[in-house]
Amino acid sequence: MKCAVSLASVLPFVWPALAGSFSVVDTYQGSDFLNRFDYLGIADPTHGYVNYVSKSTAMSKGLVSVSGTNFTLRADDRNIVNSSASGRDSVRIQSQKSYGSHVTVINLAHMPKGCGTWPAIWEVGPDWPNGGEVDIIEGTNDIPNQATLHTSSGCTMPALRDHEGTSLTNDCASNANSNTGCGVLFSRNNSYGHSFNLIEGGFYAMERSTTLVKVWFWPRTATNIPVDVKNGSNTINTHDWGRPQAFFPDTTCGMKSHFSTSNIIINLTFCGDFAGATYASSGCPGTCESFVKNNPDEMIWAYFLIMWLKVYQ
Ligand SMILES: *[C@@H]1O[C@H](CO)[C@@H](O)[C@H](O)[C@H]1NC(C)=O
Ligand SMILES: *[C@@H]1O[C@H](CO)[C@@H](O)[C@H](O)[C@H]1NC(C)=O
Ligand SMILES: *[C@@H]1O[C@H](CO)[C@@H](O)[C@H](O)[C@H]1NC(C)=O
Ligand SMILES: *[C@@H]1O[C@H](CO)[C@@H](O)[C@H](O)[C@H]1NC(C)=O
Ligand SMILES: *[C@@H]1O[C@H](CO)[C@@H](O)[C@H](O)[C@H]1NC(C)=O
Repeated sequence: MKCAVSLASVLPFVWPALAGSFSVVDTYQGSDFLNRFDYLGIADPTHGYVNYVSKSTAMSKGLVSVSGTNFTLRADDRNIVNSSASGRDSVRIQSQKSYGSHVTVINLAHMPKGCGTWPAIWEVGPDWPNGGEVDIIEGTNDIPNQATLHTSSGCTMPALRDHEGTSLTNDCASNANSNTGCGVLFSRNNSYGHSFNLIEGGFYAMERSTTLVKVWFWPRTATNIPVDVKNGSNTINTHDWGRPQAFFPDTTCGMKSHFSTSNIIINLTFCGDFAGATYASSGCPGTCESFVKNNPDEMIWAYFLIMWLKVYQ
């Protein structure tokens, strides 16, 4: 008996953490997007044709609104843009809290759609690119979603990896390939734009640790949505979620040094480096800026409808 006691004092019993298991730390829904996010009226560093408005302006112009637990964020769809403005009125919000290793799950019913729109839900650390960037939802036109990492130099991805999507460029460094990042194009075209909105969207999830980043997507109509995701359960287990659309392993990256704690950002810009560059091949009329400037009635679908967003650790 004495032996057992001394053994226990040498090897204290530690309850093993269940791999893949996380508990909710923050639930954002309805007015949480007004009160627990900052509204930043900054100039778009990616040259978007946008005027990010303050919280009070966004509220008074109806660019953000709350209905029950739903939150809507949209661009102005009433006015031709004043020639002296930096672009169309829109909104960029950033979570007040930042997160290290965590899982983000988003129940999204609608995303901005329309010629020239460039919406994104993403996470970024301080002192870009040093703190790292994970783009969970990003795209333009009606191509499938693209998930991308942007880092300082020295982080690359193996070309072949275990995911559903298609690996694009594999150097995550912002100073490589004109800051294209290491992106993955999703295999499901209802992950983005009009096809996504037709089925009232679905669920996005992103897991980030010091050894991996994974991004999943389940259309609302899918029969294989994990029940913890669909229910927004207080505890989740990412091990049961199957193959992700995008998998970024730490093999040749060094995530510990390339990613800091990051804030969640939701923004909607227009044209600029991405939507502007792909506009000509998108089948949209005229030039990007003149279309976005002169056609407020074409912007009625340019909104996010978020039912909830939860963060787990
Ligand atoms: C809006 O989001 C995209 C996300 O990829 C980003 O590149 C762009 O810089 C953002 N604009 C602002 C002003 O944050
Ligand atoms: C929230 O949005 C969903 C999806 O569009 C809709 O079915 C539901 O009626 C909305 N609830 C409220 C209170 O607006
Ligand atoms: C356009 O912006 C200028 C400068 O802010 C302002 O003087 C003018 O009244 C605006 N025009 C319209 C139609 O809002
Ligand atoms: C999705 O993509 C497939 C294959 O490229 C295509 O056959 C199908 O028509 C597309 N569906 C929609 C809704 O765009
Ligand atoms: C999910 O929600 C349904 C309906 O509210 C409930 O019956 C079920 O027990 C929940 N499952 C889990 C794992 O939370």
